[in-house]
Amino acid sequence: MLKVIQVKDYDDMSEKACEMIIDRLKSLENPVLGLATGSTPEGLYQRIIEKYEQKEISFQNAMTFNLDEYVGLAKDDPNSYYYYMNEKLFKHIDIPKERIHLPNGTAADLEKECNDYEQLIHAQNHIDLQLLGLGVNGHIGFNEPGTPFSSRTSVVDLVESTINANSRFFDSIDDVPTQAISMGIKTIMESQEIILLASGDSKAEAIARLINGEVSEDFPASILKNHKRVTVIADEAALAKA
Ligand code: F6R
Repeated sequence: MLKVIQVKDYDDMSEKACEMIIDRLKSLENPVLGLATGSTPEGLYQRIIEKYEQKEISFQNAMTFNLDEYVGLAKDDPNSYYYYMNEKLFKHIDIPKERIHLPNGTAADLEKECNDYEQLIHAQNHIDLQLLGLGVNGHIGFNEPGTPFSSRTSVVDLVESTINANSRFFDSIDDVPTQAISMGIKTIMESQEIILLASGDSKAEAIARLINGEVSEDFPASILKNHKRVTVIADEAALAKA
């Protein structure tokens, strides 16, 4: 069952998501958060930093696991997701460095890195709250259409539409990595609670398919309908076709 909250615009989406996350952070003693990158959560992270600066929350006892990282990009590469997370959130808050987790896209043995990442998540029992964006093709994390719903953290090939969509962050499309490590769909589904954010008309087709379409591996986000606690926070433009 999807609970859909309609908000006016990007700012309202960020605000609503921030409220929900702060609420969960306050109620959990050792919150384990699953985090996403991309354009969608930037406003949310900005608001979280403000709440931290106003001393409303602390991240001392929190732990984070990001959904994905590009293969081949080191932590200090401005296009790596580690760099993004550090710039947009981590360096501004009091989370201890050792409690931050992203897959290492430059690991010598990528398969081992994926298994280790998966084990690390299991060692916490579960992710309390997983944040998701939505790919225009329905991907969650970098689990592209056709990925088995049973997938675990693995090295994945990015499809052309994702490479095109993400090329806006790179100097040239040829610089966009073609592979990533992504948390698996099954791993995402084991989270206690999930919040999916969507804003803007570029997401309208995907949101309509998520809300009205069938559960199918052709559209990875559709599996969320089988989760017991998912909230979709989407703005008017993203909901325009639903
Ligand atoms: C990012 C991720 C992706 C994005 C999705 C939407 O960590 O896992 O699934 O959430 O591609 O990206 P934006 O927000 O840039 O539209």
